[in-house]
Amino acid sequence: MDKLEPVFSPRELEKTVERIAGEISRDFAGQDVVLVGVLNGAFIFLADLARQLTVNSFIDFVRVASYGKGMESSGELKLTKDVETDLEGKNVIIVEDILDTGLTIEFLLKHFAAKKPLSVSVCAMIDKTKRRKTAVCAQYTGHAVEDGFLVGYGLDWAEKYRCLPGIYCVKP
Ligand code: IMP
Ligand code: MG
Repeated sequence: MDKLEPVFSPRELEKTVERIAGEISRDFAGQDVVLVGVLNGAFIFLADLARQLTVNSFIDFVRVASYGKGMESSGELKLTKDVETDLEGKNVIIVEDILDTGLTIEFLLKHFAAKKPLSVSVCAMIDKTKRRKTAVCAQYTGHAVEDGFLVGYGLDWAEKYRCLPGIYCVKP
């Protein structure tokens, strides 16, 4: 059994989602947004966030494969599922479970820029600020963490622990 240490409780995450939904609803008041979740990790966060927004939202998903095993992405990224929505002239909000090196978001920002959206913002539940290898940042973030490998609330370790309602750190 892996040792899991609690980091954010389900109640804390619920309050965080409420806060982020308030920020997005205020910033896009009177407009529509397209929430683009990054599969698989963002599915729970996106579902909770979408239900708290007071602006009209449309939902789509992308999937990015990262070659490399273990706890870090290799930096070699490939889009294995694109959105099916026409993003031209839309306010796109990329919804991610965790922003780590930033390579995935950098890749997606380039990808979406070609679709001529009105705006593209990044929303991540967890921001591992210290590990960034790119200049990307998220306009909406839940919690900044220093380091540690996190699971739960959509985050997995080799596909395990995604459905835990809170976020935990895997202890070696
Ligand atoms: P980045 O490209 O390095 O920013 O990595 C982003 C992706 O790596 C996330 O969408 C996660 O799938 C994965 N990832 C990074 N850190 C963690 C973690 O602590 N737990 C689970 N997945 C992680
Ligand atoms: Mg992910």
